Amino acid sequence: MLDPEDIRRDFPILSRLVNNRRIVYFDNAASTQKPMQVIRAMQEFYEKHYANVHRGLHTLSQEASKMYEEAHEVLAKFINAYSWREVILVSNTTEAINTVAYGWGLWNIREGDEIIITIMDHHSNMLPWRLIAQLKRAKVKYIDIANDGYLRYDQLEEAISERTRLVAFPIASNVLGTINDAKRIARLAHKVGAVVVADGAQSVPHMPTNVRELEVDFLAFSGHKMLGPTGSGVLWGREDVLEEMKPFKVGGDTIIDVTLDTVVWHELPWRFEAGTPNIAEGIGLAEAAKYLMRVGMENIREHEMELVRYTLKRFEELGDEIEYYGPRNPGDKTGVIAFNVKGLNHHTVGAALDMFGIAVRSGMHCAHPLHRRLGLDGTVRASYYLYNTFEEVDYFIEALEKILHLKKNLLRPATSTTCTGT
Ligand SMILES: Cc1ncc(COP(=O)(O)O)c(C=O)c1O
Repeated sequence: MLDPEDIRRDFPILSRLVNNRRIVYFDNAASTQKPMQVIRAMQEFYEKHYANVHRGLHTLSQEASKMYEEAHEVLAKFINAYSWREVILVSNTTEAINTVAYGWGLWNIREGDEIIITIMDHHSNMLPWRLIAQLKRAKVKYIDIANDGYLRYDQLEEAISERTRLVAFPIASNVLGTINDAKRIARLAHKVGAVVVADGAQSVPHMPTNVRELEVDFLAFSGHKMLGPTGSGVLWGREDVLEEMKPFKVGGDTIIDVTLDTVVWHELPWRFEAGTPNIAEGIGLAEAAKYLMRVGMENIREHEMELVRYTLKRFEELGDEIEYYGPRNPGDKTGVIAFNVKGLNHHTVGAALDMFGIAVRSGMHCAHPLHRRLGLDGTVRASYYLYNTFEEVDYFIEALEKILHLKKNLLRPATSTTCTGT
C-alpha cells in the first residue's frame, strides 16, 4: 500500500491554505497537482539543456533531442507498448482523439458507414466523431448506460454490424467513474473489422495500463491528469494502424523529403508530431510517469478504491440527503464520485465546499448528453488521487454535514415574528 503522507511531501501546493484552511484537493479528474520531481525536471531542462529538437547538430540540440526521445521510451514502458515508435506526444487527450479523427477517420470512413460511441463519452471523444460523420455522411450510434451506470453491452452487441467502421469509448467515465471492459468492446468491434479508439484520460492515470492486453487500436490520455504538465499527452496506436494513418497536422519534422510534387513522410512517431513539439512538457510527463511507476499503479488503484469505499460508507451516515451516481461497487469504478445534495444546486455546493478549502468541480464536466440522460443539470464531482487521505474524506463529510445543517435552517419555512419596534 502507498503512504499518502509520504507522497504529499513531494507536492508543495498541498500545504497551501485556501480560505484559511489547508487545501483539500479533490479535483483530480480535471487536472492533478505536480510533484517537485516533475517541476525540477522541467526547470533543469530549461536551465541546462534547452534547444529545439531534431534540427541541430550542436550539443544542446543533441541533448534536447535525446531527452525528448527518451521521454517517448519511458511512456512506452508506462503503458507497455511494443515500441516507443507507437507513442506520439501530443498536447492532451482532445488533440490525440482529433489526430485519429482527421488522420484516420477522414480518410477511411465513408458514406453509409457507422461510428459507435457511448452516451458516457466526454465531449472530446464525441464531437470529433460527430463532425467526421457529418463530413462523410456516416451515421453515429450511441450506446446507452443502464440505470446503475454500467455500459449496455447488450445494446453494443446489437448495434455492431458490418457497417460499423469505428468504435470509440472511454475506459473510465469522468462522471460515473464506471470502468468499461475494453477487451470485450474491442473484440466485438474487431469481429466486424472496425477500428477501436479508447479514451484513457480517466483510466491511465489511475490504474495499470497494458496496451498489449487492452486489444484496442488507439489509446489517448492527458499528461496533466497524471502529475505531468499541461500541454502534454499521448496518442498511442498499433504500429500497423499508425503506418496507414495520414498525418492530421503537417509541416516541419513530419517529412524525410519534399519536392514540389512529392512528399516522403517521416518515420513513426515524428510523422505525427508536426512543428516544434512541447519538449519540456514531454520531458516533464516522462518524469511524472517515472514517479507513478515508482509508487506503483496497482497501489494507486487500490488506494483510490479504498477512498471511494470509505466515502460511500460515510455518505450513508448523511441519509438520503446525498444522491450519487454510477456503480455502487468501488471495484467497478475509479476514484470519481459525482453527487448532488438534495435541494441544493450543484454550483452552490461546489462554492460552499470551497469555503472549507475543498476543491471539487461542479457542472456537467464536458458530458452534457450523459447528464441529460441522467435527468440532471449538473453534479458535484469529487475525484481522488494518490495524495488524498482518509482524513481529508472525513473533513469533506464534516463539511457536507455543515452544509446540510445550514440548508435545513435556511430552507425552513419562515415562522411569524413579533415586531417589537415602533
Ligand atoms: C474522459 C475524458 N476524456 C477526455 C478529456 C479531455 O482531456 P483534455 O482536456 O486534457 O484534452 C477529459 C478531461 O476531463 C476526460 O475526462
